[in-house]
Amino acid sequence: MPTTERSYPRNAWYAAAWSHEIEHDLSARTVCDTDLVLYRKSDGEVTALEDACWHRLLPLSMGKLDGDRVMCGYHGLKFDSDGRCVYMPSQETVNPSACVRHFPTVERHALVWVWPGNPALADPELVPDFHWNDDPQLAGRGGTFYSLGCNYRLLVDNLMDLTHETFVHAGSIGHDSITRTPFEIEHDDRFVTMSRWMLNHDAPPFWAWQLGRDVAVDRWHQIRFEAPSTVVGDVGVAEIGTGAPEGDRSQGVTGYFLAAITPETETSCHYFWNFVRDHHIDDPEWTEALHTAHVNGESGVYEQDVEVLEAQQAAIERHSRMPFYHLNIDAGALWARRLIEQRIAAEPDAPIRRLEAAAG
Ligand code: FES
Ligand SMILES: [Fe+2]
Repeated sequence: MPTTERSYPRNAWYAAAWSHEIEHDLSARTVCDTDLVLYRKSDGEVTALEDACWHRLLPLSMGKLDGDRVMCGYHGLKFDSDGRCVYMPSQETVNPSACVRHFPTVERHALVWVWPGNPALADPELVPDFHWNDDPQLAGRGGTFYSLGCNYRLLVDNLMDLTHETFVHAGSIGHDSITRTPFEIEHDDRFVTMSRWMLNHDAPPFWAWQLGRDVAVDRWHQIRFEAPSTVVGDVGVAEIGTGAPEGDRSQGVTGYFLAAITPETETSCHYFWNFVRDHHIDDPEWTEALHTAHVNGESGVYEQDVEVLEAQQAAIERHSRMPFYHLNIDAGALWARRLIEQRIAAEPDAPIRRLEAAAG
């Protein structure tokens, strides 16, 4: 595979950290095969620089901060928050070309977003819509799987087709009705939405818990992908006959699963997830109980997906000549991949690494 081949666009905003993780201290992250060092300046703004010293490439994240400057931990070069070298040891003049790359950042909706591509194109208006993440009418506590061992598109596939709930999450949110119910797909050049209504069936255990009673329900999945790699799912149930399919969800419960998926390398990604709900929003015990249920070892929904995705990535690498075949249920994921490929194709230096090619 030529080294220029890649499965992600570089001209995009990618989540690099939760806001609360970045302090006046050095944090290392790899985003789109680029090593970054992140820190919060004394004025509160977040800076991202390439994590390789101009002199001998030692990761700057191994150094320390001197005010708002990063001091390399090897020979003491100092770089300002724009990446310009401002100090060299044992010499009075500083080579004006000595600098490390600076990357645009935006903090929004509790995340730090980084633009690894052409900085001239880094329009803050293009930050993915993640407003559910800090909506005061919703509550939840998410988490991160850093360096999850799969190509980021496998996770997009996973979230764009919730048929897998029936099989991967059988004891919590899975239900046969998902596999029996048709769905609709819509798409434009930025979004793909998948919607499905499962009417009049018994509530799966997770949703009976959320609703507070074990009754027949109407259930919905409204999943929206925003290119290149965020997915928001509006999911929930309401007791049958209370008008949810007609638009009245007042007798139901809604959750939004939020996924900001950041390519780390071709075979790994960072998964910033949250699940926020519209009920008991002032009750921290609900928040903790839901968080625990989601990541509770092998029975946690998120852990179950991680197990599948990492096994799938390993299988793809072992069977590198075997293609993917597609089913009707893959329609949402295939449209998402098409939007990703369009983004990559728009970047002049970027041969696309396609779905049908090896390694996901
Ligand atoms: S490697 Fe950074 S100062 Fe020498
Ligand atoms: Fe899942």
